[in-house]
Amino acid sequence: MGAAPGIALENSAQVEVLASMEAFVRDEMEAHKERRNLWFPNELVQADADTAAEWDEQLVEVRAGARELPDAVRVAVALNLLTEEGLPHFHRLIAVHFGEESAWGDWNNMWTAEEDRHGCALRDYVRDARLFNMGELERLQYSYIEAGFNPEWEKDPYRLLAYTSLQEKATQLSHANTGRLGSGREPLLQRVLAHLAGDESRHYVFYRSMFGEILKRDPNRALVALQKIVSNFSMPGHRIAGFDDMSEVVRRSNIFGPRQFQRIVEEVLEVWQLGAMSGLSAEGAEAQDKLMNVAPRLEKLADRVDAKQKPRTFRFAFAYHRDITL
Ligand SMILES: [Fe+2]
Ligand SMILES: [Fe+2]
Repeated sequence: MGAAPGIALENSAQVEVLASMEAFVRDEMEAHKERRNLWFPNELVQADADTAAEWDEQLVEVRAGARELPDAVRVAVALNLLTEEGLPHFHRLIAVHFGEESAWGDWNNMWTAEEDRHGCALRDYVRDARLFNMGELERLQYSYIEAGFNPEWEKDPYRLLAYTSLQEKATQLSHANTGRLGSGREPLLQRVLAHLAGDESRHYVFYRSMFGEILKRDPNRALVALQKIVSNFSMPGHRIAGFDDMSEVVRRSNIFGPRQFQRIVEEVLEVWQLGAMSGLSAEGAEAQDKLMNVAPRLEKLADRVDAKQKPRTFRFAFAYHRDITL
């Protein structure tokens, strides 16, 4: 299937399973194309020469509304945009784990083309709505791309698929919840974010179905890979300066945190019927056990964090160092 040689040597069993899924991947890609709505950023935030004057008028309203957005929403939009702009990392990771010449490689290209619209649309919006100290945001974006993103997946493509299943759902929730929080002040932001969230939910369905199939074809290895990802899940960008504070603002705003992650874990385990899997090896059964305990543990963790929470003040250069107290 054209995977990089290092992968074939270390994870040849996984590569064989992926190669055996060629027809399944093609069918699911077709189903995805049937479901999707191929929108373009210019339909949301226009830049046409012949309607420039009309759009400039609308922008006056958008900017007035955007000024009224709470800074917590601004932080969430910044984090969502940074995550989207990390696309080069993900295109590379998927290419490295799947190779180029197969249905998987074709999916990577189509997925990348769809994702690329997300960073474009959101950046067009924040630029035209004048949401940030833009130069500061650009510096953050630069450092995120420059820092690279190299999770320790030991070249196991199952871990990549487990990660993308969870990650797509996490970004769907982040976009949708951010849009909801800002909707009373400035409706175009919600419209843009709803388009992104819709795509993420379809990507989630695709990756979830891929991983579900792998659980059927190679259950023990799949369970071990999934357990490793779930117990050590971090959003991309976790190394950039200020990321922890941004994540904390987003958690305190009920946009995304351990509670949302807990629900994602519960949902995928339910869809994959993980608790009912049987006939497993000792390693597989151990991973299954651990996975079944993740959601209750996350719930306890979220309760503890909530109980301890005291108001805190955050400041970000891209939001002009204003006090954000939550
Ligand atoms: Fe996206
Ligand atoms: Fe996506």
